[in-house]
Amino acid sequence: PYQAKVDSIISLMTLDEKIGQLNLPATGPITTGASKSTGVIKKIEEGKIGGLFNIKDPKNIYEIQKIAVEKSRLKIPLIFGMDVIHGYKTTFPIPLGLSASWDMEMIEKTAQIAAMEASANGINWTFSPMVDISRDPRWGRVSEGNGEDPYLGSQIARAMVRGYQQNDLAANNTLMSCVKHFALYGAPEAGRDYNTVDMSRIRMYNEYLQPYKAAVDEGVGSVMASFNEIDGVPATGNKWLLTKLLREDWGFNGFVVSDYTGIYEMRAHGMGDEFTVTSLALKAGLDMDMAGDSPHISASFTKDLKTALERNLISVDDINKAVSRILTAKYQLGLFDDPYKYCNLERAEKETYTQENRDYARVVGAESTVLLKNDKQILPLKKSGTIAVIGPLAKAGNNMPGTWSVATDHQNAISVWDGLQQTVGTKVNLLYAKGSNITADLALEKRVTMFGKDIPRDERTDKQLLEEALSIAAQSDVIVATIGESSEYSGESSSRTDLKIPQIQKDLLQALLKTGKPVVLVLFTGRPLNLVEESETVPAILNVWFPGSEAGLSISDVLFGDVNPSGKLTATFPRNVGQVPLFYNHKNTGRPLGNNEGKFEKFKTNYLDVRNEPLYPFGYGLSYTTFEYGELKLDKTSLSKNETIKVSIDITNTGNYDGKEVAQLYIRDVVGSVTRPVKELKGFQKIFIKKGETKTVRFTISIEDLKFYNSNLDFVAEPGEFQVAIGTNSDVVLTNSFQLLD
Ligand code: IFM
Repeated sequence: PYQAKVDSIISLMTLDEKIGQLNLPATGPITTGASKSTGVIKKIEEGKIGGLFNIKDPKNIYEIQKIAVEKSRLKIPLIFGMDVIHGYKTTFPIPLGLSASWDMEMIEKTAQIAAMEASANGINWTFSPMVDISRDPRWGRVSEGNGEDPYLGSQIARAMVRGYQQNDLAANNTLMSCVKHFALYGAPEAGRDYNTVDMSRIRMYNEYLQPYKAAVDEGVGSVMASFNEIDGVPATGNKWLLTKLLREDWGFNGFVVSDYTGIYEMRAHGMGDEFTVTSLALKAGLDMDMAGDSPHISASFTKDLKTALERNLISVDDINKAVSRILTAKYQLGLFDDPYKYCNLERAEKETYTQENRDYARVVGAESTVLLKNDKQILPLKKSGTIAVIGPLAKAGNNMPGTWSVATDHQNAISVWDGLQQTVGTKVNLLYAKGSNITADLALEKRVTMFGKDIPRDERTDKQLLEEALSIAAQSDVIVATIGESSEYSGESSSRTDLKIPQIQKDLLQALLKTGKPVVLVLFTGRPLNLVEESETVPAILNVWFPGSEAGLSISDVLFGDVNPSGKLTATFPRNVGQVPLFYNHKNTGRPLGNNEGKFEKFKTNYLDVRNEPLYPFGYGLSYTTFEYGELKLDKTSLSKNETIKVSIDITNTGNYDGKEVAQLYIRDVVGSVTRPVKELKGFQKIFIKKGETKTVRFTISIEDLKFYNSNLDFVAEPGEFQVAIGTNSDVVLTNSFQLLD
């Protein structure tokens, strides 16, 4: 609807002004390092900037917008972006944790709240959701995604886009969403961030691309190109990816932004000089250059497109196309009607970090926890007696929002200690000891203390810290050990080759266990960890990820049974780093192991030194109650292409607490023209069941659920046998089957 208006503006623009619209400098207090732009105000006056990101002060945004719409020749408003990833000021669990809730309504609402807060503070565009499938917990950014499964990942992608955009980009309390990182960024070789990605098309289509497509189908306004290469060409300059697949095949008609200095980085990738890489990006279908504007970045749209045009590497039409997409986005957001609509100081004051939003964060934090172990029902704890809270993360409120929480005030987040004090402090005698530092490796410690999230190093010796912890432990009835990764152990540029809890904290935990007191491990992590030792020695393990603003309250709610944990893992927890990549929906191979209790078999696909199965599979998570699954029922045993098949199962809450269960539907396509995974998630339902009650869950399977990309990359369902099961996690055995008829 805006094309005529957009065309008329373009007809008035000089070449510099057009290129200016493609320029997205990094500025504001969040930006550090050489990529920060300079002379921003003057550039805005000259019409050389299309948008800005990393500014979080609405007054400042207002003033800057004023310059754009009053002082620049064409008065084109700026777009303001930010990494509003899992909340704005009110933070929710890190995305990997949020995904463990398997609650799409809840996930959507967190995005909506984030949008309401951010949009009141001048922001209109978020670089979220990140939907990169990852099967590699070494990769630090596994924390920012939704785990390993394309089906679940697609549902979450849709929920997030709906939450941010509310199908109404013109509203003043929604954000334009930007799905990232397109594409395959979660599959870097060796789990090292920014490393090469190389995978077959068939794997890409069947296992990695679906969540991006789901976001596009949901109407996402923009897409961020990833840093990695695909088929040897960086995504930033990959025409097959950004034009053929994204626009022609999927019908995307929003705009594409590069990742931070991604265009410039094509030089290091070995794609050519500044004119070649900028032209490659523009011609590929990339519209906006993020952070290329800085004087220290030697290839960017602003610096090089003019020369590229003079050399006929690009055409004016190429530039116009990109400008048109960006102006269209500004129209969609309503910025031409009211450029200040997002700078509402009164709204910012009233609607940000409200008690209501924080209460919701408390609920979400609890819903995202995953109970990994609970021997002898040690949890929930009684609200009486003496509890020793021990560990370096107990008082680290600033760590609770987790990675990529740029807009929040970290010091305001509620620590475990404060949460326990507030909730049970009058009934329970609470004692505290730090017990250890986060790590004994000083160099590593420096690398994981950033963004105001440092946990000050305790200058006492390891021995002194441990002695204090043991003496506190001796006075308690129960020990709550708050240990794990600190928040910057995961996130961007935080890859690890060791998936264990830092050794000094493992030692602390083992020493606490030796006291003979019951120990509950409250585990903080941004990735699947190797918890073999802990799973063998600690009676109760509650994985809380990084729960967000109200962490201490969320955790307390679960520890004391006010909330029954119902989270389920969305990424497999391996037994050791050597098993990685390890994921539930793998292929069978020609030499599969039978169900042999993990015994080694020569000339079969297994290891000499560790069994194949993970420690905790995808979909796994316990409850304080128990659920029993009845017999799976199918309403027919064969279906033709236009029919559906109904499957149902009774689930009974056989334990002592009311609780929620995530019932998961898995299917296996037994024979295919190409090999098919041993099982694939095709549906799930999170249901509340009172103790003693039985509920029936029902799924309808249609031919769409049976389709996959064949070797011609056609999306087809092939006739034959399909096995099916509904269970509590991906370990379920597929016993029933039906036939898809020709
Ligand atoms: O949105 C992020 C992206 O995920 C990683 N590089 C920087 C971008 C903007 O901050």
